[in-house]
Amino acid sequence: MQLTPFEQELLDGQHGQATRKAMEILTALGTIYNARRMVPVSSVQISGVSYANLSEAGLQFLSEMADGGGKTRVLTTLNPAGMDIENWQALGIDPDFARDQERVLDAFARMGVITTCSCTPYLSGNLPHFGEHIAWAESSAVCYANSVLGARTNREGGPSALAAALTGLTPEYGFHLNENRLPTLTVHVSADLHETHQFGALGKIMGEKFEQSGIKPVPYITGIREASVESLKSFCASLATYGGNALFHMQGITPEAAALRAPEETLTIHSEEIDQAAQSLTIASSEEVDFVSLGCPHLSIREIARLAELLKGKHVTKEFWITTARPTKQTADRMGYTKIIEESGAKFATDTCCVVAPIKGRFHALATDSAKACYYAYAKNRFKTVLKSFDEVVLEALK
Ligand code: F3S
Repeated sequence: MQLTPFEQELLDGQHGQATRKAMEILTALGTIYNARRMVPVSSVQISGVSYANLSEAGLQFLSEMADGGGKTRVLTTLNPAGMDIENWQALGIDPDFARDQERVLDAFARMGVITTCSCTPYLSGNLPHFGEHIAWAESSAVCYANSVLGARTNREGGPSALAAALTGLTPEYGFHLNENRLPTLTVHVSADLHETHQFGALGKIMGEKFEQSGIKPVPYITGIREASVESLKSFCASLATYGGNALFHMQGITPEAAALRAPEETLTIHSEEIDQAAQSLTIASSEEVDFVSLGCPHLSIREIARLAELLKGKHVTKEFWITTARPTKQTADRMGYTKIIEESGAKFATDTCCVVAPIKGRFHALATDSAKACYYAYAKNRFKTVLKSFDEVVLEALK
């Protein structure tokens, strides 16, 4: 790789040991992917925050980087942690886990990482614009940033995202280059989609078809007439989970689509297939559901307002977690939504989610509107799942 004199200084350790380690990670990555040079990034999102995923080895790496003088050079935010930082006791989190999780957050904070603890950084002030080079590591947010915002990022891992934060650089390969952002397959969706769980089911069926075919296309999606921010975040989370995709174009909706030509090779997805994909994630009966969660990816303020409307004056009968970012929760506090929701017995699980929190063995079956949450609920915690629309999930909690 060709490095500028300043980049060479970083690699030579002239700006501290942590920065040198970061440059070693980035140049190794660049060499593997044949990058010719580094590109400056303006924003970073770091994943791998829950102590449940990091363990002591991961925490030790972070502590060494912080002790080695590592400091962020660009806006850097953090993915969900394993607990609500301010209210972990109410969620039944073990005190030993809470102490270790706080050590992780402390290491990030010492490096200047903004401890937002959310997988929707674009809803909380980390909002890159069209064409901006960034280095993000949360798969759903990567897909959203590339596709919906038109920013440019590869799907980073925790260490490479941290390395980008400490240097302000990332190797120029993959989705940073124009030629890799061109669509390679048209996907025509022959269905009318409105609800977040339907968009999640579409991501599942598309992702599974791509996996089966052994190719990872950049899809150019046609046939979707409208899609809200909430629908798109659900779709991105699901497509990234089931297909590993980090970029799609959607005709009339995403910003690069208008300037691109739809490829001739076309895959058509019919509404029955989307219904079947949704049904395949309902493997528990209503009677079995003992855990309900909304907020994968983290809820927007619009979704919380809707939730308050649905829960007003009612009482939930099951453990019900509302997962969102702290700034969104603070807006909900101001608007009185939090009071209504908490009076119903539902709990805010801010800073965390039902996938990264250490809850294995505590529940039997999860009801949610998120196809991604269904995948991990079973894969990680062996929970059975029920996938329904947002409003139906709330009804499930009230039964
Ligand atoms: Fe976010 Fe957790 Fe889902 S990190 S995308 S809420 S699995």
